[in-house]
Amino acid sequence: MSVANGTLEPEAVRTMFDRIAPAYDRMNRLMTAGLDRRWRERTAQRVVRPGDRVLDAACGTGELALADLLAGAGQVVGIDFSEPMLERARQKSGAIEWVRGDLSRLPFPDAGFQAATVGFGLRNVLDLDGTLRELRRVLEPGGRLGVLELSRPRGLLAPFYRLWFDLIVPLAGKLLPGGSAYTYLPASVRRFQTSEELAGRIARAGFEQIGYRLFAGGIVALHTGVAR
Ligand SMILES: C[S@@+](CC[C@H](N)C(=O)[O-])C[C@H]1O[C@@H](n2cnc3c(N)ncnc32)[C@H](O)[C@@H]1O
Repeated sequence: MSVANGTLEPEAVRTMFDRIAPAYDRMNRLMTAGLDRRWRERTAQRVVRPGDRVLDAACGTGELALADLLAGAGQVVGIDFSEPMLERARQKSGAIEWVRGDLSRLPFPDAGFQAATVGFGLRNVLDLDGTLRELRRVLEPGGRLGVLELSRPRGLLAPFYRLWFDLIVPLAGKLLPGGSAYTYLPASVRRFQTSEELAGRIARAGFEQIGYRLFAGGIVALHTGVAR
């Protein structure tokens, strides 16, 4: 089920999200006290220009793809490999093209998008560098990437964060249908890149003008870059 560095195999990740799907939106609202919507809005506003063709990778139930559309995208394509997550996305909008597929082998030609967003989707991929290179490939030169991801805060907030993610979130997960899979979340955050490491890997995948900003005291980071 898990490989050497503790990351789950893609099949196990997909099965986990298939199970989480019914509880996913409610768990997000609960875990972030409703801030998750605002973070997605800010991501979309940062990278989407009016009329852009935008890819939302790891679209899940479609929340960030919808934010991309509201930010002025001309066309949005959402891709995810979990059918139950996509079913929920389809119920939310018929204006977005929802595609079932794998991030590490995007079924799109080169340079077909002006912007790409990924919300809380890179933490689980097995081949992070390969996925970032795929995102670079489907963006035209000058295209913008926005990666919204959980991070590990330092300083005063760190002990509260540990309490929240290690105790409260798994407990809440046990009470909601499908939520038991949330016991996996704290470990996946601990294992993931620091903001500096992720910025370096985005640069190595072929992006420039890399920057990141932190939300909620560093619990969430938004990385941006421009395709070279
Ligand atoms: C935490 S959810 C994020 C959903 C959405 N982006 C959001 O902002 O709420 C992560 C999503 O990534 C998808 N995912 C993970 N690895 C993937 C892969 N290799 N290919 C396609 N989708 C993947 C999962 O199915 C899941 O729907």
